Amino acid sequence: MSNKVPHSRDYIFTPVIRICHWLRALSIVLLVISGFYISWPFLVQYGGPDNLMQGWVRFGHLVAGFLLVAITIIRAYLYFFSKSDIERRSFRDVISPKKWIENLLAYGYMGNMHKSGVYGPLQYMTYFALTLVIVVMCVTGLILHAHVYHEGLGGAFMPIAEALIPMFGTLAFVRELHHFLTWVFVIFMVIHVYMAVFSGIRFKHNSVDSIVSGYDYHPMKHK
Ligand code: HEM
Repeated sequence: MSNKVPHSRDYIFTPVIRICHWLRALSIVLLVISGFYISWPFLVQYGGPDNLMQGWVRFGHLVAGFLLVAITIIRAYLYFFSKSDIERRSFRDVISPKKWIENLLAYGYMGNMHKSGVYGPLQYMTYFALTLVIVVMCVTGLILHAHVYHEGLGGAFMPIAEALIPMFGTLAFVRELHHFLTWVFVIFMVIHVYMAVFSGIRFKHNSVDSIVSGYDYHPMKHK
């Protein structure tokens, strides 16, 4: 059965936003895997031959970690100063109780959702909360780095790390927080992929593909 509805083709994500999205996804996957391995190095037996396995995993973790720090800075800059205001515009819906109700009802198949920008209010707040967790991971990661490698960048960061530790209590708690918050990413990734697919089906648009091609398609007439 064919269902012909005219669609508009809208350019929503610039190349730099898409590249940042996929580099961030890659870095987070690498960080979760290597991070859990650092805390439980199960591949080499205790007291076994020293093949520097742990050293390579730590190296990979740091490369992915600094990539995440760089992307977080670039994305913060783009949020505020990008020529396209499609992300910033979404904030209007966050401060409107009417839009929140419309958003939550629409997820339950009750009515439709008309967004001011690219994200709905629930989606916006979820990404904002995740960004805060990423910032905490970057700061705690850099504090740990300063205490593992005392030379180079690690050493340069040491005075700032020393000043920040009292805010967390102890260095041990910095490590625990860095470890526990890793689960936020594991849970987020599952829900994020589910919601991306769900939203494409529910609102009949190009949800997942738009972060690859940059284009979204919207029905010009709602059925
Ligand atoms: C999504 C982001 C991140 C995740 C999920 C993550 C995860 C983890 C986990 C699970 C550990 C092991 C903690 C333990 O010992 O129990 C760890 C350790 C560590 N992480 Fe991260 N991390 C992230 C970001 C970063 C960043 C941005 C940096 C720094 C640039 C970083 C630097 C470190 C360092 C230095 C260690 C300690 C390594 C060692 O013991 O030699 N991490 N990370």
